Amino acid sequence: MAKMSVEEILASSSDMQSIFVSQELYMIPSMRSLTAEEYVEAFKSFLDHSTEHQCMDEFNKEQMPDIMAGLGTGKSTINVLGVGSGTGEQDLKMIRILQAVHPGVYIDNEIVEPNPQHVAAYKELVNQAPDLQNVSFIWHQLTSLEYEQQMKEKGTHKKFDFIHMIQMLYRVEDIPNTIKFFHSCLDHHGKLLIIILSDSSGWASLWKKHRDCLPATDSGHYITCSGITEVLRRLGAQHRVYELPSGWDITECFIEGDPLGGLMMDFLTGTKNFLGTAPAVLRRRLRDALCQPECSSTRDGRVIFSNNLSMIVVES
Ligand SMILES: C[S@@+](CC[C@H](N)C(=O)[O-])C[C@H]1O[C@@H](n2cnc3c(N)ncnc32)[C@H](O)[C@@H]1O
Repeated sequence: MAKMSVEEILASSSDMQSIFVSQELYMIPSMRSLTAEEYVEAFKSFLDHSTEHQCMDEFNKEQMPDIMAGLGTGKSTINVLGVGSGTGEQDLKMIRILQAVHPGVYIDNEIVEPNPQHVAAYKELVNQAPDLQNVSFIWHQLTSLEYEQQMKEKGTHKKFDFIHMIQMLYRVEDIPNTIKFFHSCLDHHGKLLIIILSDSSGWASLWKKHRDCLPATDSGHYITCSGITEVLRRLGAQHRVYELPSGWDITECFIEGDPLGGLMMDFLTGTKNFLGTAPAVLRRRLRDALCQPECSSTRDGRVIFSNNLSMIVVES
């Protein structure tokens, strides 16, 4: 596709709906999933061009102080567990809110994160933070399942006042059991925060309506908020959902040869060099799907993919 304006992209998209492609074409031998290192790079480009973290900042500002006010009341130490914490930016923001809401309280923060690069970056972030004197950190470089197994082998598991699983459940082995286990790790009056893509996001439409555009190299779960609340209902766990808008500027995905666009398509599909390895018809179908109004809108000539988030606060 040569360089096209957003209007041209949208105008051309309807022709493509008539193209039928069989699923077998979608996986050709040269197509492969992202390695952990490649995922780190693609995720970074997603964060740089989306309002994902700004959306979480808004939630932190508007809702978190009240949510955290009831945690660990009367205790001298508040125990926190981050699961799939990545490089820790969100964790530290939440710890600072806890410090503000419970001044003088000691915070014991444990982290379960399998990616060694993410763990190293998190440690570096902590080393450079001057305001975390009353906070201790323990990193477990493990998947959530490995952590669960270790705890079960020990026969006891520590209880936490606050556990968070932010944008990570897509990659766990068994979502219902993971939620069940970490919910059982909550202390009395503890809270579990799950942040996941909203049912109103472009991802939800892409996964529901345009699944056949996604290559089999994308090994994650296609789960959004309602999939999680269904699990919570079955567990009988009380919860409240907050919906927040967020967007991802994917304009470069439509510019042939653009390196940023290529990285974005890799993140969308979980596939290394998707634009260089996928059959042309698949590339066109995916770009077409991305332009549909249920996935994206246009703003000032840019294509903004809906990345709306759901914040689910679960009671112990
Ligand atoms: C999309 S990132 C989110 C990072 C961070 N929570 C944030 O919102 O910025 C997903 C994180 O989950 C981690 N992860 C992937 N599979 C996991 C698993 N099975 N158990 C725990 N964490 C996992 C990844 O390494 C990555 O750091």
